[in-house]
Amino acid sequence: MTRLIVVSNRVTAPTGAGGESVGGLAMALAAALREYSGLWFGWSGRTTPEFTGQLTVQRAEGVTLATVDLEEADLQEYYNGYANKTLWPLFHYRQDLTAYDRSFGEGYGRVNRRFAETLAPLIEADDLVWIHDYHLIPLARELRALGVKNRIGFFLHIPWPAHQLMVTLPGHKDLVQALFDYDLIGFQTQEHVQAFEEYVLSEAGGTRLEDGGMRAYGRTARIGAFPIGVDAEDFAQLTRSEAARRTFDVMKAHTAFRKLIVGVDRLDYSKGLEERFAGFERFMADNPDLRREVLMLQIAPLSRDQVEAYQEIRARLDALSGRINGEYADIDWTPVRYVNKTYRRDQLAGLYRAAQVGLVTPKRDGMNLVAKEFVAAQDPEDPGVLILSRFAGAADQLRQALIVNPNSPEDIAEALKRALSMDRDERIARWKVLYDNIVTEDVTAWRDAFVAALSGARETPTPEDPY
Ligand code: G6P
Repeated sequence: MTRLIVVSNRVTAPTGAGGESVGGLAMALAAALREYSGLWFGWSGRTTPEFTGQLTVQRAEGVTLATVDLEEADLQEYYNGYANKTLWPLFHYRQDLTAYDRSFGEGYGRVNRRFAETLAPLIEADDLVWIHDYHLIPLARELRALGVKNRIGFFLHIPWPAHQLMVTLPGHKDLVQALFDYDLIGFQTQEHVQAFEEYVLSEAGGTRLEDGGMRAYGRTARIGAFPIGVDAEDFAQLTRSEAARRTFDVMKAHTAFRKLIVGVDRLDYSKGLEERFAGFERFMADNPDLRREVLMLQIAPLSRDQVEAYQEIRARLDALSGRINGEYADIDWTPVRYVNKTYRRDQLAGLYRAAQVGLVTPKRDGMNLVAKEFVAAQDPEDPGVLILSRFAGAADQLRQALIVNPNSPEDIAEALKRALSMDRDERIARWKVLYDNIVTEDVTAWRDAFVAALSGARETPTPEDPY
């Protein structure tokens, strides 16, 4: 079997049930690699005074993890800078938060070069190399420059923005050109594929090929949508674990059998948390009779907290949750519980199962795996209702959710009312279709579809295609 080398900025040891939930990408890769005796390469999460390229290697559940430390300047310019102050906000349609600083671009290039130099010696002739996410767009170009001729695929976990937004990025041409050093470029949804194709057709004078590929900058690449999934059956099983049952019981006791509305997101401005709180507030204002029968729990672990935009959204949410509770809470009831802690996956499974409503309302999201895990954790006999933003990639697949516009507190309030009063037959009917979908299009199917496409991506190099 060919070996799979996975590369991502963030690497987390696959620890199974007890692992912390750290964001969709790392969890999905851990699950995807568990059955593959592959190599996972990336940043250690640590800094060092001077970059040495020294690898830390460990084995976890059949996967070899190889990580490197980065310098403080790398962290500031590449991770906090170009990745999270430039590309992340822009790709999530937040041009107002997008910062352009020359040092960010330099740091981004430098770290991608450093990753390539450290990784290249580990790559063997038949390996498939699969690179993940916006931190590492130019990595294939750097590997090619070092003579790596293997098939290399790229998967973008976040949205690819509309053409007119993409061109606002200084250096956009270079970034897109770098993508053509991959043999396969994968996106979450057809919408992202179309936006990318539109860019390539109109900005790069590219052409579409018959086999679903594109030609531009003298090179060809296959392009496709590969919607990422979760390990649905494994997550469903987790609800039977001891930790899940304990969390379930605690929640039931603490909610005093009120209906529980739950949201779990990294604390990120793309997640629509302000509007979500406002939507819940609207629901309470419009439905005084139902008010005390519900409780909203929002779990929002801190994320990228060295970036100002994240500090600001945190302060706003602190104020907003405090204000809503100040206005509505009573001596024996607090409507909003807002928690900035990280929970283990098995605890989350129990929590989702205890909830009547899962509220997933990002303003933009590549996919959103919380939506899928919420579905996986439900009791088939008495499932909860998923409320889902139309701007999450998951909305393409999870159509039996209640789909809302996350910018509209009114829309969210109405969906809450509908979800909380939905009869059991309708809940079961909707849930069944959702569950079938997440089981069929699970993380293994995602990995296998991508790997198959990458394996078949480039049968014979063309003369202009020297790699
Ligand atoms: C999103 C990104 C991932 C990232 C994760 C957590 O899911 O697509 O690439 O790893 O957020 O963010 P962090 O900055 O902590 O890695």
